[in-house]
Amino acid sequence: MLAAVAVRQNADDPLSGLELRDVPVPQAGPGWTRVKVKASSLNMHDVWTLRGIGHDPKNIPIILGCDVAGVTDKGREVVVHPIIADPDAGRGDETLDPNRALLSERHDGGFAEYIVVPDRCLVDKPAHLSFEEAACLPVAWSTAYRMLFTQASVTAGDKVLVQGAGGGVASAAIAMAAAAGVTVYATSRTEAKRQLALELGAHAAFESGARLPERVDAVIETVGEATWAHSLRCLRPGGAIVIAGATSGTAPDADLGRVFYQQLRVLGSTGSTRHETAAMLRLLASTGLRPRIDRVLPLERIHEGFQAMIDGELHGKVVISVP
Ligand SMILES: NC(=O)c1ccc[n+]([C@@H]2O[C@H](COP(=O)([O-])OP(=O)(O)OC[C@H]3O[C@@H](n4cnc5c(N)ncnc54)[C@H](OP(=O)(O)O)[C@@H]3O)[C@@H](O)[C@H]2O)c1
Repeated sequence: MLAAVAVRQNADDPLSGLELRDVPVPQAGPGWTRVKVKASSLNMHDVWTLRGIGHDPKNIPIILGCDVAGVTDKGREVVVHPIIADPDAGRGDETLDPNRALLSERHDGGFAEYIVVPDRCLVDKPAHLSFEEAACLPVAWSTAYRMLFTQASVTAGDKVLVQGAGGGVASAAIAMAAAAGVTVYATSRTEAKRQLALELGAHAAFESGARLPERVDAVIETVGEATWAHSLRCLRPGGAIVIAGATSGTAPDADLGRVFYQQLRVLGSTGSTRHETAAMLRLLASTGLRPRIDRVLPLERIHEGFQAMIDGELHGKVVISVP
């Protein structure tokens, strides 16, 4: 079968290490299920792997792709929960299993015709979503769900700032928070993405770093260095900043004085539990929310999709459709 395989890591030219190869169709062992991939979507995580950031070179070559929707050998339409981990090893929370792995880190991912995954990773695909839409959800939307509703515990009536509105996690957070009755402020560097934030349900959208009309209960942060100081300034005393990514850099001025004096809570967040992935899908089913797709490409044109992502051109997800 055809697959997009990470064969080398190169910090400056990540896409040079991504090759389309003919590989054997995988067989499912006990407790695992084979899924015919119908669609998979691109994430920054794939680019980090190709750049050699956070991915052990020992696990190269590996098929990339951590967002998958497809059909099992028995005909069940599924979304693949992308975390392979043991809840018991994480004291009931699989994201805290020290040995957890995201699909494509130690197990082959979904940029292929077939994938094998642990049975517990299978979640029913909501009927109202196409395979292309469903393939946008497991990583970005589940991550955003955990940040909002588990880590920050936001509820209707709360106020939230989402930094970098154009991002996959950020745009999902805006849409779900607004649907849950939260007042959402968003920032973005571009007018087009601020407009997108308003379309997704944000109460107001501002240039990155702009003063907000009021302090917020929580900040959803994936941008990192470029927005960290602003995120801290926007919180009410006792507010929470939930951080799941640092696209612009990982080492901002910590501003510890503000953290302790305002009693701010800094909460890291990574991935989601299977329960949170399923809850996110139920939220979409009950609200009719759906992800925005920028373009759908065949596997043969995957490099073009990644280049657009690296160039920051996207207004939604890039989906690989596998007939
Ligand atoms: N921990 C987890 O489980 C998890 C899960 C998913 C993603 N992540 C991480 O979270 C980060 C975001 O992921 P994503 O898929 O949402 O990425 P993305 O779609 O590329 O979004 C990143 C956003 O950050 C903003 N941004 C980038 N550079 C900036 C700068 N210099 N100044 C201000 N804003 C800047 C941009 O927003 P504007 O253009 O709108 O300003 C951009 O849209 C990545 O680092 C990713 O690895 C982590």
